[in-house]
Amino acid sequence: MTTTATRPGGAPGRASIAARTLRTDRWWFLPVITVVGLGAWLLYGVVRIYMHKWYWVEEYHYLTPFYSPCVTDRCVPEAAHFGRFLPDWWIMPEAALSLPFLLLFRLTCYYYRKAYYRSFWLSPPACAVPDGHKTYTGETRFPLIFQNLHRYAFYAALIISLINTYDAILAFHSPEGFGFGLGNVIIVVNVIMLWAYTLSCHSCRHIVGGRLKHFSRHPVRYKAWTVVSAMNGRHMQLAWITLGTLVLTDFYIMALAADWFSDLRFIN
Ligand code: FES
Repeated sequence: MTTTATRPGGAPGRASIAARTLRTDRWWFLPVITVVGLGAWLLYGVVRIYMHKWYWVEEYHYLTPFYSPCVTDRCVPEAAHFGRFLPDWWIMPEAALSLPFLLLFRLTCYYYRKAYYRSFWLSPPACAVPDGHKTYTGETRFPLIFQNLHRYAFYAALIISLINTYDAILAFHSPEGFGFGLGNVIIVVNVIMLWAYTLSCHSCRHIVGGRLKHFSRHPVRYKAWTVVSAMNGRHMQLAWITLGTLVLTDFYIMALAADWFSDLRFIN
């Protein structure tokens, strides 16, 4: 006869042991590093967004992605490529049109969900380590049912990636006309990484190759699906790399705009 083991005060199905976990390795390291990494990034982002300055380098037309598209009345007119139709309230970020969608895209991302469920939420913090919560309701009811918005946030992220690409093209500028400097290298690398992260999305993979009965009848979609699938295998790395390239791009542009140092120019 088989019985369901129960941990004292714990959930059915667990071995009847007093210890919270029998793991002796540093299982807590990844959750801790994730909290530190994501927390630091969020803090940097909030501080930068509410500085309301040092986002545009007039000489070279560099615009930081944290302020793109710049659409409030406070925006420098030359940086407002799509108009300044939102009020200049302090609480309103210059990129108020894109930031909520980007936040939604990242918050509902399959990788970030795993990361913050395990680290911030401790649900569970690691394999063979009990959940930090007594109950588990999954993503089928409020509020986590809204994680399903990810597929729609993906379309918004596509549009925002196009806007970032447009900004990167406009940045090949100098007072003499065409120009090219270290800032362009940083901006272009960031845009490439953002595209890689966006296109490696699980929703993108489904849009490209899902709902098909026969790949043989859709060779183009099959080819695209294999490419997206290969990128999808690197989605976690791209999620972290893009956090890094975003901060690097923003910091470099802030430093130039604040006159902390000059751009290294290769042409003009
Ligand atoms: S799954 Fe991460 S962006 Fe879609």
